[in-house]
Order: sequence, then structure tokens, then C-alpha cells
Amino acid sequence: MPLTDGAPASTDPAKTNPAELVFPAGFGWGASTSAYQIEGAAAEDGRGPSVWDVFSHEQGRTRDGDTGDVAADHYHRFAEDLDIMKDLGLTSYRFSISWSRILPTGRGTPNTKGLDFYHKLVDGLLTRGIAPVATLFHWDTPQALQEIGGWEHRDCAKRFADYAATMFAALGDKVPTWLTLNEPKTVVDVGYTAGVHAPGKRDRQLANVVGHHLLLGHGLAVQALRGTTAEGRIGPALSLSPTYPADESDAARRQATVADAEENRRWLDPVLLGRYPEDWLATQPADAPLRAAIKDGDLAVIGAKNDLVGVNYYGPTHVTGTGSRVMKHPTSQATWQEVDPDGLFDLLTRIKRDYGDIPLIITENGMPTKNATQDQDRITFLHDHLVAAHRAIQAGVRLETYHLWSLLDNFEWAEGYSQRWGIIHVDYKTQQRTRKASADWYQTVIARNGVSS
Ligand code: NOJ
Repeated sequence: MPLTDGAPASTDPAKTNPAELVFPAGFGWGASTSAYQIEGAAAEDGRGPSVWDVFSHEQGRTRDGDTGDVAADHYHRFAEDLDIMKDLGLTSYRFSISWSRILPTGRGTPNTKGLDFYHKLVDGLLTRGIAPVATLFHWDTPQALQEIGGWEHRDCAKRFADYAATMFAALGDKVPTWLTLNEPKTVVDVGYTAGVHAPGKRDRQLANVVGHHLLLGHGLAVQALRGTTAEGRIGPALSLSPTYPADESDAARRQATVADAEENRRWLDPVLLGRYPEDWLATQPADAPLRAAIKDGDLAVIGAKNDLVGVNYYGPTHVTGTGSRVMKHPTSQATWQEVDPDGLFDLLTRIKRDYGDIPLIITENGMPTKNATQDQDRITFLHDHLVAAHRAIQAGVRLETYHLWSLLDNFEWAEGYSQRWGIIHVDYKTQQRTRKASADWYQTVIARNGVSS
């Protein structure tokens, strides 16, 4: 008798008696978080402010004026959180390192207490048999660097690589997997174009320069790892979204290609092929600051060999003949999120087809649900995406690990604490952690190394 896993009953006969979809032996089962979203302790033990400390304290930037000052208080409660991970059976945990905890002004002498925290976290993971996956940059640029231009200046890429080298020296013998940047696209589109994330600027030209410097920082960090004795693998964590025409028209098809360049190729091509896509570059005017920002040799640095690609998948993009984006599936509480598990299959198989057999890890996948521990909708979401991931593996994709977003409810950036993305509920008044139904469900998935079809 195949085990059932709480997936919703269906009238489809194949689903009323579901078969077990078993993942390959050694497949990694993980969960993901980021520093500013969970740690709190914003001014403790020598941590310097980041752009998100400053931005979240500005009037009107976040829902209800929420900040990450305390967040899920993980800085003080990490031991309890490690035990939760162990109980779930996680074999992988993706977290990010707060740059300004290590280098309070973005450069100079590392803060020993900051390094100590990540040593304790990583040691705690290793003793529990959980593989650490460390992200070096999850949007929290040190404020001191922002004040001299941040990623708008090329120099920031070099600063980032120096910080990366500090981390490789400290943790290189313990961390098997490094991720350079998390979602550079979001920094560019939401932080520098829409102005909804830190640093809250609205300048598309400048945004593209920032995007280039982020990519350069990625390349220099990869180079820094290669220059050490650390054996860890490294790659970026990119937010990717398969793009589809919203209708059958040629115009919609053309616009889907344009959107694909923006959403995917603009990031994948430089990192994996060492060039910007021609059609995307052609949209940049001759006098665009981006053109001057790209120096000889940059793309060789950016395109040097990566060991893996981290994929953040939240949903597809549908585009009309006039280039507007429309939703063809239901959305989640995050109004930007169109829920379509098949998009994950399309995305993973497309990466293999167009970029070769590079190992992939899913670095994020999830949805927000209402403030309750009975989160059946999250179970359905995770189940359906795991079925799609399994199908991609069957189709030959080298998918090694799956990290859901997120382990804990946390600070959802401009949405503050109003969106709950965790499989563990956090009561922000008491900091009490409570397992949601999805946590129980995920534990059984991990124990079985599979889901029902
Ligand atoms: C992507 C980001 O990396 C993460 O920080 C965020 O919380 C989730 N998406 C959900 O929006």
C-alpha cells in the first residue's frame, strides 16, 4: 500500500490510489531562511547597520512600520531552531550571513563575535547531520558601503569579494555549499526600479549598473573561493520564472521572449555563458550607463565556472501582446505570486536544455498562508511542486536538493510580518515556535524520501 501524505483527495483515478514517487538516494531535503528576516539582534555584539535596518526604520517603507530589529530572534534562539530542524529530519539548511555582522562597516577587521555566531550555527548543523548551505548576500548591504554608493559603484564588487574571502577563510573547511548572491534581480527590480525594497531608489538606468556590479561581485567571489584551499562548491541563487505568452498571438509570443530575457536569460547567460543576451543588450540605449559599466574582462570573471545553480521558484510569468503581465492561475496572499507547479518542471528542464547539465538545487519554493497552524494550502503547494521536481529528475535534470521557503515565519521585507511563509509558526510576542501541519507533513516526506503522486 503506498503511503498517503495528506495531499488533497482527487477524483482523478490515478490520484485516488497514488503511487509513491521516490526521490534518488541522497536527495537533499532542506529549508531556507535569511539573516535579516530571522536573526534580530540588530545592534548586538558589534553588528553594523545594513541598508535594511535604515530602510525599515524610515516612515512608510514597510507594512505597519515593521522592522527586523527582533524578527524571529534566531540570533538568541538558534539552538532551539537547530533542534527543530533535526526533529524535522532536514538534511540541508540554507541560511545567509549578515555582511555587517562580520564587517560592521563593510570592510576592515572582521568582528569576532559575528564570526563566532556563524561558527556556532554551522557546528550545530554539522553535529546534527545537516549540511550547511551558506548565502553570502541576501540583500543586506552594509549601510556604510551604501553611503559611498553601495552596488552603484564598481568598488562594492571588490568589497564583497573581500568579505567572501573572509568567510571562506573562517568556514571554508566546514561549509560544503556556498551561494554568492540571492536574487540579484529583486535588488535591481524592487530595490532600484520600483523603490519598494532598500535602498528605495527608482532609477532603471542605475538599476542596470547595480545589476552588473552584483554579477561582477558574484564572479569575484567565485574567484576568491578558487584561490583558497576550501573544497566547497559555489554558485548563485537566482529567482527564475518561466515565461509564456498569455494567448496564441505572435505578439504575445514575442513579448514572452522579451520577458524571458528580463526574468531569466539576463542572469543565467552572463553566469553560465559569459555574455549578456544580445536581444536584452539591444534594449539598452547606446548611452546607457550600463554600457560604460561593463569593462573588458568583466564577463570572463562573471562567466567563470560555477559548480551549481540555486533556483528560487515561486511561479511563472504570462505576458500579453502588449507586454503586460497577467495571471493565468490563482495567486497566493502574495499578489505577485501565480501558483503553477508545472512551471517548475518547465524551468528545470529548460535550464538543462539551454545551459547544460550543471547541478541544480532548489534554494527557495513556497507560499504564504494565513496566521494558522492548519496550513493545508501550503501542503498542497509543496506536494505539487515536489511532484513537478520529481518529474524533472525523471527527465534527467540533475536536481540535488530541495529547500522550501521558509523554515520559520519571518520578516517578509516591505510586507513586514503580515505574510507568514514558514512551516513553523512564530508568535512574535512570545517568540514561541509551533509546528504547522505542513511541518508534520514535510517530516513524513523526508522520512519516506518521497511523496505520493
Ligand atoms: C525571495 C527572497 O529571497 C526571500 O527573502 C523572500 O522572503 C521570498 N522570496 C518570499 O517573498
